Amino acid sequence: MTDLKTVLSEAVATAFAAEGVDAALARVTPSDRPDLADFQSNGALAAAKALKANPRELAAKVAAHLEGHPALSAVEIAGPGFINMKLSDAALSQRAGEVATDADKAGAAAVADARKVVIDYGGPNVAKPMHVGHLRSSIIGESLKRIFRFRGDDVIGDAHFGDWGFQMGLLITACGDEGIADAFMVEGDGPFPSESPVSLADLERLYPLAAGKAKEDPVFRDRARKATAELQAGRAGYRALWQHFVAVSRTALTREFSALDVTFDLWNGESDADPVMEEMIADLKAKSLLVPDAGAQVVHVAREGETRKKKLDDGSVVQVPSPPPLLVISSEGSAMYGTTDLATILDRKKSIAPDLILYVVDERQAEHFEQVFRAAYLAGYAPEKSLEHLGFGTMNGTDGKPFKTRAGGVLKLHDLITMTTDKARERLKDAKLGDDLPEAEFEEIAHKVAIAALKFADLSNARTTSYVFDLDRFTSFEGKTGPYLLYQAVRIKSLLRKAADQGAEAGEIVIAEQAERDLALTLDAFSTAVSDAYDKRMPHLIAEHAYRVAQSFSKFYAACPVLAQGHEATRGSRLSLSAASMMQLETALRLLGIQTPERM
Ligand code: ARG
Repeated sequence: MTDLKTVLSEAVATAFAAEGVDAALARVTPSDRPDLADFQSNGALAAAKALKANPRELAAKVAAHLEGHPALSAVEIAGPGFINMKLSDAALSQRAGEVATDADKAGAAAVADARKVVIDYGGPNVAKPMHVGHLRSSIIGESLKRIFRFRGDDVIGDAHFGDWGFQMGLLITACGDEGIADAFMVEGDGPFPSESPVSLADLERLYPLAAGKAKEDPVFRDRARKATAELQAGRAGYRALWQHFVAVSRTALTREFSALDVTFDLWNGESDADPVMEEMIADLKAKSLLVPDAGAQVVHVAREGETRKKKLDDGSVVQVPSPPPLLVISSEGSAMYGTTDLATILDRKKSIAPDLILYVVDERQAEHFEQVFRAAYLAGYAPEKSLEHLGFGTMNGTDGKPFKTRAGGVLKLHDLITMTTDKARERLKDAKLGDDLPEAEFEEIAHKVAIAALKFADLSNARTTSYVFDLDRFTSFEGKTGPYLLYQAVRIKSLLRKAADQGAEAGEIVIAEQAERDLALTLDAFSTAVSDAYDKRMPHLIAEHAYRVAQSFSKFYAACPVLAQGHEATRGSRLSLSAASMMQLETALRLLGIQTPERM
């Protein structure tokens, strides 16, 4: 099943080729003048330049090939040589009918060659509450996972839990100093208590304490570094204690992810790459990639001539490699953030052999990934271009800086969800929505509205841009918001329920009115929205499409009576159009990770 835009693109490409023009120029885009045409192709202009021909004449020759195409009712040349195309109502009717019966994909096409894709997102850390940075990664990553899977790829979502490295040494040392984990501090093989000596609250208190202390107290810092190295070397008591940290944190984090409707196929951590670590170090050495550098071991990743200026403490300026070398083994002998990332790539190669790995991580980690990817390519752990960092901007406060609570602290994800749900409840009550429903259902709706508000606000912005957190706007039932889209979807569902109650039956779609035409054109555009979102890794293109469907439907519903329509065939056609719109809107929302309630 092919969308009409693709059908036209292929027809125009064939026509270009028949005139000896590079078919790559035959791009078909939605018309700039929807009052005159549905689609246009500007390719004749560039082609004429290359061929030194008259663009209008060339456009006319191309257009002659399109004359009589079954999907077109008119082909015209406009301006200096634009080809304007108008779809026939029959083609639009048939296409809308296809969308209506495509319960699986709502009109979107699958990829020709499915790939194995790992998406690394979420990235929560042991002992650290999730904050808004993890929120963006989780929301965008979850949506990309759904989009890639929807297109037919074999997708594995991995949380890449931050459970290794210096932060673990900090926690172990802090626990030791507080005397709350004495049983784990003894050397030797144990056995060690199977009961966790720490709660989540302990961890959340101890971590900032230890991190702060390490900054001020070099002795404490060195002890924490030593503990990290010992943990990694396998000291049994430390491993046992560490396992409790991981388990306690994971239970809490899983609860938060489930509130967000974010799930992972793999809940691997940085530590899961540990088994390949030794082999990797040996391999990097054998390949002469790992070299000593002031007591540490690094991989140089900058190419010949890639340098940047660096100011030294004495004020002098020198040229240093850019990106800087990847630190693989610290002078204390421990693995670093980049080391676990590199080892994870090797581990994934062995266990999954992915064609592509996408990392959905804050833009501010761009250099880290540049270093890791280059090292991985140099070592042959991943095919060239198979690693992509998909950075994102920050969620800011009204001051334009990364969002903080009023007290100036980082906002915990849990508190953010509670706050948004409170607001959603208030909004629903104000709008007199769902107030006649049973308490439990109302609560479920409030939760869905809240999650829709947060996710849509995030995903309606291009991934790379930062945006301002504005709870009032996000939770409004008006404007480009999640709650507005849920409301529209629920409205269509209620229309369809009413139709079923009245025994009104859906029928063949026959496009006659302008508003029906516009709606059918919108439904046709879903396939492009999905493939563009996939190609560019940009979920906001789906968010935009969802909004377009809601608006087109709204206009259609205002202009074309459905149930009040006496003519049976027209009513049947409009019911099918409504069902297709609902299905596509719900599908688009699902790709954004947003659930639609049945009613509100
Ligand atoms: N845990 C990291 C953080 O909080 C994010 C992990 C991102 N993924 C990765 N493969 N490095 O910053």
